[in-house]
Amino acid sequence: MELTPCVAYNLFTILVGVSSILCSVQPPTINPGLLTPTQQIGECQSCKIFIDSFKRGLERTKRGKYEGGDAAWEEEKLIKSYKRSEIRLVDIQEGICKEENKYSVQCHHMAEKAEELIEEWWAQDPDESADLYTYICIDKMQVCCPKHHYGKNCLPCHGDHENLCNGNGKCRGDGTRKGNGTCLCDPQYIGENCDQCAVGYYQEEKNDKIKCIKCHPSCLGGCRNGTQLDCISCKPGFVFDINNGCMDINECNDPKICEHGQFCVNTVGSYFCRDCDKSCNGCYSDGPDACSKCAEGYYMKGELCISDIENEEQEKFLTNARFMTYLGLLIATGIMLPKSTTLGSMVGIVVLSYIMGSEYYCMINGHTGLVDLTKFDLFNIFRL
Ligand SMILES: *[C@@H]1O[C@H](CO)[C@@H](O)[C@H](O)[C@H]1NC(C)=O
Ligand SMILES: *[C@@H]1O[C@H](CO)[C@@H](O)[C@H](O)[C@H]1NC(C)=O
Repeated sequence: MELTPCVAYNLFTILVGVSSILCSVQPPTINPGLLTPTQQIGECQSCKIFIDSFKRGLERTKRGKYEGGDAAWEEEKLIKSYKRSEIRLVDIQEGICKEENKYSVQCHHMAEKAEELIEEWWAQDPDESADLYTYICIDKMQVCCPKHHYGKNCLPCHGDHENLCNGNGKCRGDGTRKGNGTCLCDPQYIGENCDQCAVGYYQEEKNDKIKCIKCHPSCLGGCRNGTQLDCISCKPGFVFDINNGCMDINECNDPKICEHGQFCVNTVGSYFCRDCDKSCNGCYSDGPDACSKCAEGYYMKGELCISDIENEEQEKFLTNARFMTYLGLLIATGIMLPKSTTLGSMVGIVVLSYIMGSEYYCMINGHTGLVDLTKFDLFNIFRL
């Protein structure tokens, strides 16, 4: 069986149909304990997400299960006993990581690892306003460090903590147990403290703070300033002009750059070749109106190359339409003739003249006619 687009489409529809049936039968269930977290985010980030989720749980269960009720003193008492109860902890843990969509796997993974620590903390009758993040993620689990500290032992990041990496990058491993505390610069900057411009960027003239800006797209290997006149050298596809700097080369000026049957399109820094319209035998642009010659089976009509077949069909259609019009006119004359002979014959003459006139017009314009009128002497016909 040939794989036509239609067949392919039908197969596709069947596949989609079958798979949607299979999918609706059994929704996938995830066991977060079995899934290992992907490497998208580090342990510290996962811990932070888990703590945030736990805090939302604390908030959610703050007023117990009796939300919005009248604050009768008995109810107050119930809330107080609930506040430190195992029941509340279970309530929090049941909702843990549920609102987290993107990193729910990592969040569940961390929740499991931290379960015992959280239970210990809960048993101590904790102050809920204490920094749970510092307690769990930094001190107990040791997956994070305080701000602007890095590595296994949480050493301070290099340089001025008020202006780390000149504000143009960040300390490697900042706030985590990873990294080496050196600067990871934004793409525009290089240097130990991100205080120099990377290749392809130039330094804006400003004294207080270094700022690097991208060179003109035509530059290769850097620049002194922002225009194409300031390039150190030009990218391929550009040529250096003393007045204008790096200028785009119009490759399409070379008539032989594309193969026969294609036309050239210039782009900034490059060019591409596209196939001519199928009605062309060589062309200078897209479409059937940009042919230098017409392809076989096509002929030039005005500026367009038109298919012979299409043309014949159109002609046939027009001819039929014309004949139907004549028939209509003749029938109308036939209806009028018995009522008034004079009027009828006058209309008849008008109709006949119209038919002959239009046939003659068609004939001299090279269309097929009812009869070949060149064989008749028109004046003789009227003299009958
Ligand atoms: C710090 O880490 C980066 C990336 O891991 C590495 O390229 C760099 O050489 C390291 N620097 C030092 C001083 O160890
Ligand atoms: C860069 O261009 C700006 C204005 O476009 C100009 O003020 C400045 O002097 C130029 N810098 C250099 C180094 O030519």
